[in-house]
Amino acid sequence: MSLVQSHNEWDPLEEVIVGIVDGATIPGMSPGVRVTMPSRYHQFFSENRGKTFQNVDPELCYKAQIELDGFAQTLERLGVTVQRPASRDHSVKYSTPHWESTGSYATMPRDSLIVIGDQIIEAPMSWKSRYYETLAFRPLLKKYFQSGARWVAAPKPTIEDALFLHDGSMEQPWVLSEFEPVFDAADFFRCGRDIFVQRSHVTNLSGIEWMRRHLGNEYRVHMIQFDDPTAMHIDVNFLPLCPGKALANPERVPEIPEMFRDWEILYPPVPNLTDDAELYMSSRWVAINILMLDPNTVIVEQEEPELQTFFRNQGFDVVPVPFRNFCAFGGSFHCATLDIRRNGTLDSIF
Ligand code: ALA
Repeated sequence: MSLVQSHNEWDPLEEVIVGIVDGATIPGMSPGVRVTMPSRYHQFFSENRGKTFQNVDPELCYKAQIELDGFAQTLERLGVTVQRPASRDHSVKYSTPHWESTGSYATMPRDSLIVIGDQIIEAPMSWKSRYYETLAFRPLLKKYFQSGARWVAAPKPTIEDALFLHDGSMEQPWVLSEFEPVFDAADFFRCGRDIFVQRSHVTNLSGIEWMRRHLGNEYRVHMIQFDDPTAMHIDVNFLPLCPGKALANPERVPEIPEMFRDWEILYPPVPNLTDDAELYMSSRWVAINILMLDPNTVIVEQEEPELQTFFRNQGFDVVPVPFRNFCAFGGSFHCATLDIRRNGTLDSIF
């Protein structure tokens, strides 16, 4: 039987990929990086292009590694099978007929891969530094393929200059043209037969249309938008917790998406994490990037006690896990994982 089977963000988690920080490499500046990454780190990205985080900030890597391993152990203790990608040197230079680049990391499996039912889809990412990101996951993908999963990669984009409308120094219009389909997997979330996606600075309309046609009549793909000028990844803006309850970023969801109007929308407290914390690749809202273990249980960062209380007051069981240093790499528990198998069925819940 296929080891890959997951239809939504909340069914009981059975198997998951947890990323690694080994070999994580600093992307250089590019339109996509400039428009989404905190401006106070732009110079850092320019100056350290292609260097590993290990070289530049070994202490951070060490602490993040310990947190990741602790997170993986917590999941295992809770009965979840944990898989890890292969360790690779992402600072190795590669080229295509159009450009050359160094890589990025295998830290955030949610960014480059999405599981929909028994299929695992490799995203056509628009950052040159993420072109070969899924290679670190290939040993696992082959194993899942052998177990019966469907495995597909969306057409590789060429990432020529025509894909970018501007140099990334402005937030509107979106930095991406419709030159070719591109998306990051983390701009999607799954609610059974209904798949939701945000257009962003890494996901264009053609990418969304590719997914819609690829999934066919069994699924409905809905685009929803938030007030997020640096949009990259939906799971710090809005995330379903269980049928009928969704988490909404209080600063970025001025209007509840229409299909969620009869859901209970939970607005979490402002994180303890501040915007000037050591967050190379995200805002403080990374703190609400939680992972559901089942419809009732949520993993929350240990140093966010208000957020933990907030979830407890809503009737959830909370598992606090230390993850502060890891967040510097641009994501938290949801980004750092890819659910491979959740125990549930394909339903229409709307
Ligand atoms: N783009 C996400 C944020 O920082 C990670 O809000």
